[in-house]
Amino acid sequence: MSAPLLRTAVFFLLAILFVNAPLTRLRPAAFTPRVASAASRDPVRASHGMVASTNKLASEVGVDILKRGGNAVDAAIAVAFALAVTYPAAGNLGGGGFMLIRLRDGRTTAIDYREMAPAAATRNVYLDAQGNLIKGEGSSTIGYRAAGVPGTVAGMALALRKYGSGRLTWAQLAEPARRLASDGFTISYNLANSLDGNKLLAGYADSKRIFLNNGRYFKEGDTLRQPELAATFARLQRGGAREFYEGETARLIAEDMRRNKGLMTLADLRGYEAKERTPIRTTYRGYEIISMPPPSSGGAVLIEMLNILEGYDLRGMNWASSEKYHLVTEAMRRAFADRAEYMGDTDFVKVPIAGLIDKKYAERQRTSINLERASTSAEIGAGRPTGYESEETTHFTVVDAQGNAVSNTYTLNLGFGSGVTAKGTGVLLNNEMDDFAAKPGTPNAFGLIQGERNAVAPRKRPLSAMTPTFVLRKDGTLWFTIGTPGGPTIINTVLQAIINIVDHDMNIQQAIDAPRIHHQWLPDEIAYEPYGLSADTQRALVGRGHKLVTRPRYMGDAHGIMIEEKTGMRLGASDSRNEGAAVGY
Ligand code: DON
Repeated sequence: MSAPLLRTAVFFLLAILFVNAPLTRLRPAAFTPRVASAASRDPVRASHGMVASTNKLASEVGVDILKRGGNAVDAAIAVAFALAVTYPAAGNLGGGGFMLIRLRDGRTTAIDYREMAPAAATRNVYLDAQGNLIKGEGSSTIGYRAAGVPGTVAGMALALRKYGSGRLTWAQLAEPARRLASDGFTISYNLANSLDGNKLLAGYADSKRIFLNNGRYFKEGDTLRQPELAATFARLQRGGAREFYEGETARLIAEDMRRNKGLMTLADLRGYEAKERTPIRTTYRGYEIISMPPPSSGGAVLIEMLNILEGYDLRGMNWASSEKYHLVTEAMRRAFADRAEYMGDTDFVKVPIAGLIDKKYAERQRTSINLERASTSAEIGAGRPTGYESEETTHFTVVDAQGNAVSNTYTLNLGFGSGVTAKGTGVLLNNEMDDFAAKPGTPNAFGLIQGERNAVAPRKRPLSAMTPTFVLRKDGTLWFTIGTPGGPTIINTVLQAIINIVDHDMNIQQAIDAPRIHHQWLPDEIAYEPYGLSADTQRALVGRGHKLVTRPRYMGDAHGIMIEEKTGMRLGASDSRNEGAAVGY
């Protein structure tokens, strides 16, 4: 070999070795296939505590409370108050929701702070003289008459009194929110978008002044200050939770209601009670599922679907296969049909919960599922369990250093609720009355058909789909927390996140980010997210007899925390569909 040729050969040999050596060294780590392959960022890792919510400022408020010695419940209360300021579409003082708590010793409980119907809300309150649903102002969705009696303040007070650490006071937990309201915070792109040209809020003077900059609208990067809301927080700090229901705040709300022909009175506010309920539970492939009982339908519908799906080898099916989507859809169809027929506020009506979540019932439900063909919702009505006689909401979750956990979903119902800010309080009021069947058999804003058991009645709580949930490992320790907004899609989002983790080995972030589908019995169609189903899968599903519709938007805004088995690390995940953040320490 000539010298130049030798030099070239050596050069290439060295080059190959040089380039390949690091690759060979890196390959095992960089190319180790992940357990699941769905592309998404890694969860946020922290060794002590974690908060995941739809707003970074609120998550930071929660972490600060944890660092100051507060437990998960203390932090959750501060996050709920902070979101009432920084996420006005759903964070609230004027709405309600559900807080699921699991203490480090394994005790679990559910705080029900769902809104209650005012005394004047009788069965046909939303029907005109001809028996038709009233539209616009006066309806169950818009304006003063749409608001149920808010439960958030009472719910937070109950949670603090019974499960707070005792190291931080009510006033201390409200202080970060008061400060955010008083000093203001920077308006994000999403918030600016949701306020820009908002016709609902434009219809009410205080809403227009506060949230729409009096019709001049805010831009991304502007500061939103809410002085009346800050003053309301200051009154709550001084007077405690009862101030909201009996003090100056109550008086301001009732007075504004009276002036505008609303339903809610001072007596309604005085009579509001948050309630502690026993969570609903089952196992799914040996893992314990703990979720929300009525007046949310979330836990029962979720469990019925999981029970049905337990009979199939989902793990053996490809994650994105039409055969899996087919079965998941058939489970959704049947559980949502039962929801429409059987579910309502158990303080008022009998709901056959035990029958609905019975594994034997799921076995019977499975017999009507054809593996090759879609059922039709017309033929699949509610089953026969034994013993039967928009949109915005927000979910957040906290796990503290001791292992106490909170999974909380609360809402004004649709984005910015009724649109009404009670004069002088800065408090946006909910339109949760639309979650009742204003006219049984007629769809509500979510297209949900609901039955007599969910008809309007004084002091009754409207049926909800909110599904704050915990899943435990087989040794009984906390595995992960999960929840989301999205009206009826809530239950299906939680279902799919659980399946993604249990059956498809995804981590919490992947499970949340993966595309979702939704079927709610009626309308008889599968809704899927943009880019969520391949054309081949769509063809296969249509071939089985399913009808498909694309959602113009993504479904939900889920947040979850998983405890890593080996290390105990808290892995926080905030939905990539929105601008939330998991923050830990
Ligand atoms: O309680 C319920 O089921 C509804 N009020 C939730 C509304 C909701 O999630 C709107 N969000 N996208």
